[in-house]
Order: sequence, then C-alpha cells, then structure tokens
Amino acid sequence: MAAQFGDYQYEIQFNALSGVLPELPMAFAELERRAKATLSPSLWSYVAGGAGDEFTQRANVRAFEQWGLIPRMLVGAAERDLSVELFGLTLPSPLFLAPVGVLGLCAQDGHGDLATARAAARTGVPMVASTLTVDPLEQVAGELGDTPGFFQLYPPKDRELAASLVARAEAAGFKGIVVTLDTWVLGWRPGDLATGNFPQLRGNCLANYTSDPVFRARLAKPPQEDMQAAVLEWVSVFAAPLTWADLPWLRSLTTLPLILKGICHPEDVRRARDAGVDGIYCSNHGGRQANGGLPALAALPGVVAAADGLPVLFDSGVRSGADLVKALALGATAVGVGRPYTYGLALGGAAGVEHVLRSLLAEADLIMAVDGYPTPADLTRDALVRLPGEVG
Ligand SMILES: Cc1cc2nc3c(=O)[nH]c(=O)nc-3n(C[C@H](O)[C@H](O)[C@H](O)COP(=O)(O)O)c2cc1C
Repeated sequence: MAAQFGDYQYEIQFNALSGVLPELPMAFAELERRAKATLSPSLWSYVAGGAGDEFTQRANVRAFEQWGLIPRMLVGAAERDLSVELFGLTLPSPLFLAPVGVLGLCAQDGHGDLATARAAARTGVPMVASTLTVDPLEQVAGELGDTPGFFQLYPPKDRELAASLVARAEAAGFKGIVVTLDTWVLGWRPGDLATGNFPQLRGNCLANYTSDPVFRARLAKPPQEDMQAAVLEWVSVFAAPLTWADLPWLRSLTTLPLILKGICHPEDVRRARDAGVDGIYCSNHGGRQANGGLPALAALPGVVAAADGLPVLFDSGVRSGADLVKALALGATAVGVGRPYTYGLALGGAAGVEHVLRSLLAEADLIMAVDGYPTPADLTRDALVRLPGEVG
C-alpha cells in the first residue's frame, strides 16, 4: 500500500516507544500559545492580529463549526488518494501554503521564506510565495525542489514594475500568478496601529523590489546606500486600486495560469471567468483586511457554483484537518493555510512548517479513512450536514 498521510501518527507513536516525544505542538491551541511566546510582541501582533475587533477573523474559524461531516461505513477506505489536479499539475494533496508577507522575519534565522520553500520541497505541498519576502523570489524558487510554487503579486501602480515581477516569476519557474485584489489599501488594524507596526515601512520584506531592475532604475541611489528613499518609492508604487477594466492588462502579463485572490461574490467570479482567468481564490485575507465581513467559508458554495468548473482555491480560518475536509466538501479544489504554518515556522523553521503540514494532512487523511471518503472527489456537499448555531 502506498504511504498514507495518516501514517504520521505511527511515526510519532514509534518515536515515543523509544522515549522521544514530539517537540512541536500537536494541537493548534498549543501551537498558537508557543508561537506567541516565541515571536516578538510586534511580530506576534502583525501575524496573529486582524482588522477591527477581529469579528471576521473569528467568524472565519467558527464558520467551520457550522458543518458536520456525515460518517459512512463499510466503504473500505483502507487506502486513500488525496491527490488533485490543478492547472495541469498533479498535486499529492489539496493543501497549499497561502502567501504570507512576513514569513522571512518569523524564522529565527530571518530567512523564513526560504525555510518555507524547503518545507514545501520536503512535503510536496505547493507554496504561494508572497510579493513581500526577505529573500528575492528567485532564491525562494531555488529552494522548492520538485514542488510547484506560485507567485503572489500585489499589482503595483507602476505597470512596468508589475511586468518585470511577473517575468521574473516566470523565469524562476513559478507555475502560476496569484493576484491579490483585496490589499490595494491596508485595512484598519487597531493592534498594529497601537504599536506603530508596519514591517515594510522599516525596510523589511522588500527584497523583490530592491532586487528588481525596473524598481532600482527609479532610485537615485542603490537601496543599500539609501534604504529610506527605496522605502518611500515602495510606498508610492506598492498597490494599484484596479478595476475590471484593468483585468485584460493583468491577463496580458502572463501565459501562466492567472488566479485572482480575494473573490467572495458570485458576480465577481462570473466577471473574472469572462475575462479569461484560470482560477478563483476565495479568501478574505484571514480577516486581516475588512472587518464585519462574512466568513470566507460562507462565501465558498456561491463562489464554487459561479465558477462553473473553474478551479477554486480557498483559505481563511483553516485550523485543522477536519476544516480542510469540510472546505473540500463545500467545493474547494485546493485549500490554503496561513497563520498555522507561520506559527510552525516561528517555532521550528522548515521542520516546524513541515510538522504543521504533515499534521493537517494526517488528520484529514484519517478523517477520510474513518468516515469513508477515500478521495477528494468523494467529498461533496452530501457529505455535510449544517448544524444549528451562531457564527462570530
Ligand atoms: C502575517 C500575514 C501576512 C500575509 N501576507 C499576505 C501577502 O503578502 N499576500 C497575500 O495575498 N496574502 C497575505 N496574507 C493572507 C494569507 O494569504 C491568507 O489569505 C490568510 O492568512 C488565510 O487565513 P488564515 O491565516 O486564517 O489561514 C497574509 C496573512 C498573514 C497572517
């Protein structure tokens, strides 16, 4: 029988027989608690915090509690196959690493983007690399091994710069471009405002800009001689408030699969489809951008219906293997996590990310085994029952 993700529990139990207990947390609450103790207070606030009073962020997590998976018996799901097809790639599982802009800073050696890429290489879990990295995208791509990576673009106001970033991502071997649409302006984040927290303004996580020939040509002096001027230039170009009229331009930037991140309304899905995008990424940025919004999971079924067969990536609020399974049953083609693996990175670098991913996959795999759903295709809306209760 092929190796199954759930076998991670045997590895842990056998290690325990020889007296070695897991150093990294097994439960999300413990992961969160220890990451908080490890990260500096300002980095913790940036990573864990969200918009407003964090209603949407909490609702993202609690939305999963509104659904229960219905166990099916005598299915004989002794062997599961979690693989999925996405943009012509065969992935070992539907799990992926959502783009997280301060990863670099979260690792103890200050190179968390590279550590995350190494964890992707070891696990086969694709990484969506953020625009905002400590190390340039070429170096991140260099650590991915055979695992596919995707490049996430915050479309800058400067179109030449956008084209340059996309061309570099293509040349570096990324397999698709994820354009994030919900962050052309920063949301209201009281925690970060109270602590004056905005890592990029201090010159952090700007390597993709400072290494870019188009960006550098705009500067009077190289960034290493005048980082303050580079930061000011970055502020002036960072994010363009795009409209639907700009979508043909975005489409024209690449022949790679183009995926739009931040889509929650069915009508937006239809317009994106009409403009020729290859994938829809349903997300509310983990509740970091606009408070008061619906949980992303509540938007997922409408997005999937409107996508009409186009792949739908999903994130926001996934904290367990059970959540992964539920998002699949609601129609997601692939499911991303953000904060959980960032906490693993803070605690254990690449090994910490790997542990978080393997734990999520093991739990999902074992739920699919116990409940009789041996493949993602078996997980349909019929596998779920809606439970009574409030969200938020
Ligand atoms: C600290 C942090 C930084 C993030 N940076 C980015 C980013 O650079 N680009 C992006 O598209 N999304 C970014 N996101 C959003 C994630 O891609 C993802 O949508 C979100 O984390 C999913 O929610 P979760 O944290 O509840 O899993 C960031 C999220 C966090 C927590």
